[in-house]
Order: sequence, then structure tokens, then C-alpha cells
Amino acid sequence: MRIAVQPLLKVENLSIGFSQYFRGTQKRVIHPISNLNVDINEGEIVAVLGASGSGKSLLAHAILGILPTNAIYSGSMIYRGVELTKKRKEELRGREISFIPQSVNYLDPLMPVGKQVQIGLDKQSAQERQKMLFAHYGLKESDGKLYPHELSGGMLRRALFATSVREGVKLVIADEPTPGIHPKALKEILKQLRQFAKEGAGVMLITHDIMSAIEIANRVAVIKDGQTMEISAASAFSGTGEQLKTEYARRLWRALPQNDFECQELRWEA
Ligand SMILES: Nc1ncnc2c1ncn2[C@@H]1O[C@H](COP(=O)(O)OP(=O)(O)OP(=O)(O)O)[C@@H](O)[C@H]1O
Ligand SMILES: [Mg+2]
Repeated sequence: MRIAVQPLLKVENLSIGFSQYFRGTQKRVIHPISNLNVDINEGEIVAVLGASGSGKSLLAHAILGILPTNAIYSGSMIYRGVELTKKRKEELRGREISFIPQSVNYLDPLMPVGKQVQIGLDKQSAQERQKMLFAHYGLKESDGKLYPHELSGGMLRRALFATSVREGVKLVIADEPTPGIHPKALKEILKQLRQFAKEGAGVMLITHDIMSAIEIANRVAVIKDGQTMEISAASAFSGTGEQLKTEYARRLWRALPQNDFECQELRWEA
């Protein structure tokens, strides 16, 4: 692994709030994320681990600049040494910064999936490359002509993943890319994430699943209620968790079935 002096992406003190109406006309601001920190180096896979609702997708959307318009956002994001402004996010999104969204609804319902995978590829070779990607992720050539509603959930996730494989990608944000995927395609996806990192890209793998996180990540960021609890080497998730820094991470680790469900009350929410 190649570690650069300066992180590829450094997110500091990220806060995200939403203005909401309650009791009819009164307004309040809720803060699903407050003072969240995470950084990714070139060639590194960082897993972001957290329970449902802990703010993982919001973090991804903030990096990509696709938060809802009513979101109130503060904090610093430095990408390749320069502030990641709204304009820069728009320029880099889908090019240098690749996104694999959690929801398959990000696919265009009115365009055949093959065509969608071809977007952003070199025009001359787009069709060939798309066919190759489909074969790689266990999709048939004829699947390319189908519309999203004609594919199963697992097939859609694979098509979605194929849209992220582009030349020149420097940062990959993968938001739960693997649920419901056939083991063979899952292996291919994890292999591709490793390949991104091998080629020097930084990878943020958002997941609920500690085991897949520690299988492929270099470091793991544990998020709880929109805050970073701890960032540790993936290797710290071993034994009784004695190398972990916080009791929270240790309890998550020990609550796994293979670690004897030590803290039943903290079992990982899916
Ligand atoms: N547009 C929104 N308006 C108000 N609250 C929101 C909005 N989007 C997300 N939230 C809240 O922010 C919190 C974090 O949501 P987020 O989608 O980031 O969770 P997550 O960690 O990705 O969960 P999951 O693992 O289930 O995907 C949740 O409590 C959610 O209800
Ligand atoms: Mg999510």
C-alpha cells in the first residue's frame, strides 16, 4: 500500500442538519451528523462502519455534493490538497470521484442498463467495454437491453457497480455495494475495489458488515449517531479487540456470533 504524505481526502468537523417543521408551523433543525472526521489516503481502502441511520449515506452524499437542498452543511473537505467546493464536486463526480449508491433507484428507469453503463466511457470502445464489464459481473450480454425494472435487485446492483469502473478514477465511494449479491459477483466486486486501491485510488467502503470491512479495508472508521467514534487499522478487529481504542468498537466486535455474542444488547442492526 502506498501512503501519501497528504491524505487524498480529509473530511473534518462535518456537520449536516435538516430544517424540519413540527407541530404544524414550528421549525427546528435536527443534526444527523455532527463533527464527523474521516480521511482516506491514496491506494487505501477505508471502511465506514455504522448502524442503520448513523449517517453513512449522508457522509457519502456530502462528499459527492448531492445532499438534498434543505440540508444545512458545514465543515471542511480537502481533496488532493484543495477545498472540495460545490463546483469542484460537480466537476469531479462521475469522473475522478466515482460513486456506487446504496439505492438502485439511482439508475434511470427510462434507459436500458447497458446504455447507462456506457455513459462516461470512451465513445469508440464504450459498447465493447460495457459488454466486458457485464461478463465480469455475471450479467448476460442480452441484459444490457433491459430496463431497470426488468432486472432483479442483485442484477441491478451489479449494473450499478459497473458504472463506477472508469479509467482515471481517484476516489471511489461505495455505499453498501454488496447486499443481495450472488457470492461469485460479490467476490468480483470486492476484487474490483481492491483493484481500484492497487491502482492508487482511495476507496471508501460503506457497510454494516464488520467482517467484509475487515476483510478488505486497511482502516475502519466506526460511526455512531453521526459522529466518528474511532478510526483504527482493520487488524485491530481481532482477538478480544484489545487493540481497539474505544469500548464501543470493542463491544461491536465482541458482539459478533463468532466472538460469542458477548454483548447481546449491541448486536449489529441490519
Ligand atoms: N433528507 C433528510 N431529511 C431529514 N433527515 C434525514 C434526511 N436524510 C437522512 N436523514 C436522517 O439522517 C440520519 C442518517 O441517515 P443515513 O441515510 O445517512 O443513514 P445510514 O447510516 O446510511 O443508514 P443505512 O445503513 O440504513 O443506509 C437518519 O436518521 C435519517 O433519518
Ligand atoms: Mg445508507
